[in-house]
Amino acid sequence: MTDTAAGQVDHVLAEDRLFPPPASFAENAVVATQQQYDEMYARARDDRDAFWKEQALEHLHWFEPFGDVCQWDAPHAKWFVGGKTNASYNCLDRNIDQGRGDRAAIIWEGEPGDTRTLTYNELKSEVCKCAAALRQLGVQQGDVVSIYMPMTPELVIAMLACARIGAIHSVIFAGFSAESIADRNHDASAKLVITSDGLYRRGKVLPLKKTVDEALEKSPTVEKCLVLRRTGEKDTPMTKGRDVWWHDVVDSQSDDFPAEPLDSETTLFILYTSGSTGKPKGIRHTTAGYNLWAKRTFQWVFDHRDDDIYWCTADCGWITGHSYIVYGPLSAGATCLMYEGAPNYPAEDRFWDLVEKYKVTVLYTAPTAIRAFIKWGDEHVEKHDLSSLRLLGSVGEGINPEAWMWYHKKIGGEKCPIVDTWWQTETGGIMMSPLPAITATKPGSCTKPLPGVVPIIVDETGAPVGKEHGGMLCIDQPWPGMLRGVWGDEQRFIETYWSLVKGKYLTGDNARCDSDGYYWIMGRIDDVINVSGHRLSTIEVESALVSHESVCEAAVVGRPDDIKGQAIAAFVTVTDPNPGEELRQALRQHVRKQIGALAQPDDIRFTAAVPKTRSGKIMRRLLRDIAAGHEAVGDTSTLEDYTVLAKLREQDA
Ligand code: WTA
Repeated sequence: MTDTAAGQVDHVLAEDRLFPPPASFAENAVVATQQQYDEMYARARDDRDAFWKEQALEHLHWFEPFGDVCQWDAPHAKWFVGGKTNASYNCLDRNIDQGRGDRAAIIWEGEPGDTRTLTYNELKSEVCKCAAALRQLGVQQGDVVSIYMPMTPELVIAMLACARIGAIHSVIFAGFSAESIADRNHDASAKLVITSDGLYRRGKVLPLKKTVDEALEKSPTVEKCLVLRRTGEKDTPMTKGRDVWWHDVVDSQSDDFPAEPLDSETTLFILYTSGSTGKPKGIRHTTAGYNLWAKRTFQWVFDHRDDDIYWCTADCGWITGHSYIVYGPLSAGATCLMYEGAPNYPAEDRFWDLVEKYKVTVLYTAPTAIRAFIKWGDEHVEKHDLSSLRLLGSVGEGINPEAWMWYHKKIGGEKCPIVDTWWQTETGGIMMSPLPAITATKPGSCTKPLPGVVPIIVDETGAPVGKEHGGMLCIDQPWPGMLRGVWGDEQRFIETYWSLVKGKYLTGDNARCDSDGYYWIMGRIDDVINVSGHRLSTIEVESALVSHESVCEAAVVGRPDDIKGQAIAAFVTVTDPNPGEELRQALRQHVRKQIGALAQPDDIRFTAAVPKTRSGKIMRRLLRDIAAGHEAVGDTSTLEDYTVLAKLREQDA
């Protein structure tokens, strides 16, 4: 734990506006009355096995029935023990069996404006072909496949093809560097990588395959690389015997490849995320529990109806894309809009153009995007007819009340409920959120837990703090979508999540529960920063900086940023006695190369020393204050070298 003691975050903004759900919303809503929620919540808590047994039997397909619903030997959970199912079957075949084969599953638009629609039948055919190709390329059940692709239908196809044959996908966000890909390939012992020639971003082409090639030099476990032609780059390097084109090996396969019956606890995917130490951890999710959680939370929170056009603007490289572009909506038979590119290409109204064109009814996006839209100006919104929208969602970080109000007024026309969804890569799906037909919302609060989620807030000794007090947010009971481990690192799994209070999952977030039982998330306890809704560890960025030859020491903190939520501020000591702009740029470039563009520090300050406590810990609280432009406050009595502080202040002036 760092110096943000839970007690210091008690003061949060006083927000007492209450927005009741529109009356019309309750008609035909998935969860239509408070009583329905109360009953579900109580049953899931008090009769867990019976509740989830019913849910699993009704909402997943079973090749073979399960025995025990939940075996809980904290921190290890097994759900739907001994049953056999398949997530790809639940997303595709099951919908087709139920008569939804001709319904659009994915309506896709590329950044240049090209479009494609895939019905459930068509999506299944493509997934089958890809599954057959993966098999032909030697991928077996339990093998790890890294996916580093643009937001094309083939990204979803590749994920579901892995699920179909019991291979484990590890999707790597296409903004990560070659180093990051190599680290993930190595940690997971990936056998195959799926990528594309290039990726469109704001009209330019990024050569993805070249980046992958660089990573593959350091990925000895990878035997094959499957390459989608997306941008048509002329000089895409292909290594004979290792690299194959998607159109050469996928297109000619049979479009019927039966889904493998898989044990409930078969690993479905791993997804790397930042923790408080330098090395990203592979969060492991399994088949049945995750699939059920993604599906039910999707239906409850987004009040899914047959005629919805649902759009989640996330990238499949993050958990939001996994759960709310792929597994949740597709298992629910939803029609999903999927968009490849940037929100401001060719102009700042691209999102609103898409909403109008496809008559989107449910929109799920992130506060950092909302703040960017505010900055770009209302005229881009006002040009478009957004009257198809009926529900709005937010995820990734707390939504500040100003952004909430703008979203409510300008996008929702004051008629759409906003669901502020709190959850994490580790939780598999949404944990706390308003339910649109019943929950009166307070801007900035993720309101209440979903059925199956039992939050508790504790102090540093693990004792519950009670209402209106800030503390560390834990989850008291196992839930089907919970992580099952950290890939290859049991020790880290236990230490990170389960060592504060025995048997209770430690989220890493601070929170407060108000007197109405509403939850307010108050930022991280650990050294994780949230930049544009993306988790980064300060130590990860520090390690990248220190790996540069001119850097002796680095301390990285988040500072408030109007658009990104948090920006990255780095304090570095260097060998060069007169460091300047050139070195600053070189360091930015270096971090970009080590981790990816999203980790590039916004501010780099050269300093004679990094302030530390007598025990050698970096004084992050102090640095945060300096980075934010505040006068350093608080206890500096353990500061090792007072002159350091003075020098840092001087730089500020
Ligand atoms: C933060 C993203 C406040 C939180 C789904 C969490 C939020 C971390 C919210 C997980 C929200 C996410 N309100 N904070 N509605 N949603 N967070 O793993 O700090 O990328 O622990 O999962 O984002 O980030 P992750």
